[in-house]
Amino acid sequence: MNKYIIGNWKMNKSLSEISPFVKTLKKLGKNQKNMSVCVPSVMLTEISKQAKGLFEVGAQNCHYAKKGAFTGEVSAEMIKETGASLVLIGHSERRHYFDESNEFIAKKVKEAQTVGLKVILCVGETLEEKPKFKSVIKKQVIESLSAINNINNIVIAYEPVWAIGTGKVATTSDIAKAHSYIKEIVKAKFGEDVSVLYGGSVNSKISAEILALSEVDGVLVGGASLDATEFVKIAESRG
Ligand code: PGA
Repeated sequence: MNKYIIGNWKMNKSLSEISPFVKTLKKLGKNQKNMSVCVPSVMLTEISKQAKGLFEVGAQNCHYAKKGAFTGEVSAEMIKETGASLVLIGHSERRHYFDESNEFIAKKVKEAQTVGLKVILCVGETLEEKPKFKSVIKKQVIESLSAINNINNIVIAYEPVWAIGTGKVATTSDIAKAHSYIKEIVKAKFGEDVSVLYGGSVNSKISAEILALSEVDGVLVGGASLDATEFVKIAESRG
């Protein structure tokens, strides 16, 4: 299986930038299997149309309810309707800037799984929490997955908060340790193997080394996914 290469545009780009991005990927990208880009929700329909058959598209958040009085929110079903097939849930920026709790995240994971979206559940410790990262990660994983009975369509992204957007990357031995630990936790709870992605300042200079680790099933790429050429280079570094 090709390892996952998932981009996260965060709150960047505009509708007019979709077409040049997709064109570059079409020209350069020979290796698009398991490649996706998570974009602002207002861009989902357009990029899904343009990316059809080339790469998959995802949202960066969803609400847990099917519908209702939740001004400004978007449901998992609405995301699916746009043609998107995955959703990031519990990204550290959502946890920290919007106070999302594991309990709240767990409800979203359940709803996204129910409608058939692939869930990329993000977990990771802050710099202060680094000495006790195991207990922090265990709590995030167990509590965020507490509303579901199986891990169909669930992928976990390990993103140490101190590595996101900082240019600091975890060492390969720290990544391997954290990923093995996450896989152990999920296996003990669900009896199944889960894919774990690494995220945090990944670029094409370091991606090959990270992707070569057997504990790493892919990467979640923020800043470097904004540049289509760089993003393709990361995908090609899968070997
Ligand atoms: P970064 O972001 O690659 O810019 O560090 C990763 C992420 O937030 O998913």
